[in-house]
Amino acid sequence: MNPLNHVAIIMDGNGRWGLKKYNSRNKGHRAGLDTVEKVIRISIKHKIKYLTLYAFSTENWRRPKTEINYLFSLLENFLKVKSKQFQKNNIKLKILGEKKFSKKLNNLLIKSEKITKNNDKLQINLALNYGSKKEIVNAVSKIKNKKLKITEKCIANYLYTKNIPDPDMLIRTGNTTRLSNFLLWQISYTEIFFSKKLWPDFNEADFIKLINKFKKIKRNYGEV
Ligand code: IPE
Ligand code: IPE
Ligand code: MG
Repeated sequence: MNPLNHVAIIMDGNGRWGLKKYNSRNKGHRAGLDTVEKVIRISIKHKIKYLTLYAFSTENWRRPKTEINYLFSLLENFLKVKSKQFQKNNIKLKILGEKKFSKKLNNLLIKSEKITKNNDKLQINLALNYGSKKEIVNAVSKIKNKKLKITEKCIANYLYTKNIPDPDMLIRTGNTTRLSNFLLWQISYTEIFFSKKLWPDFNEADFIKLINKFKKIKRNYGEV
């Protein structure tokens, strides 16, 4: 049985779910938050140490302003309520991506990271304004400026995911089989699962089924 330390999730399908059910993409984003809470709970139960959630990509700025504003207001409320609970439950929050939001949200993110930084039960990495190509370019240019030798280890040390082990599993919901600029460096040996379910419909049984499937896979890493 493979140990499961780090699960990364591309939480896709909110908009379609909301449109289908309530004729509103935003209602789908709201419902998606309940699934976020569910996967956090299950991750703790299964002693997963890192949960990385793709919440907003560098490309998502192309969406209508009203949707973007709604997403960030949801996030703001979520953090206001949750960062105290994270602290109480020994959960560490880390943001992956460039914190280039409103001053208020930037400060809230920084504060949530700061108050939870010594927690060690579960680390939630929230990928926000995250783009994998941008992450790699940033890393390489910092290395170049410092005139360091470019090695795999050095690049890994300049990514947002510094000191975070690579994901064991990547799950993408939403019936779409692409990576959408997520963790391209970090998932070179990750087991990838695509779920047809839209994110708000993804439930405990779905998650556990995938975890069990993952546990039985023979991970070769190039060996036989
Ligand atoms: C993913 O759901 C959540 C974010 C990108 C914020 P989508 O909003 O992409 O949902 P679909 O893919 O349009 O259904
Ligand atoms: C990926 O979903 C980003 C997040 C889940 C935050 P998208 O819905 O933005 O991906 P594309 O644009 O369909 O590839
Ligand atoms: Mg989508």
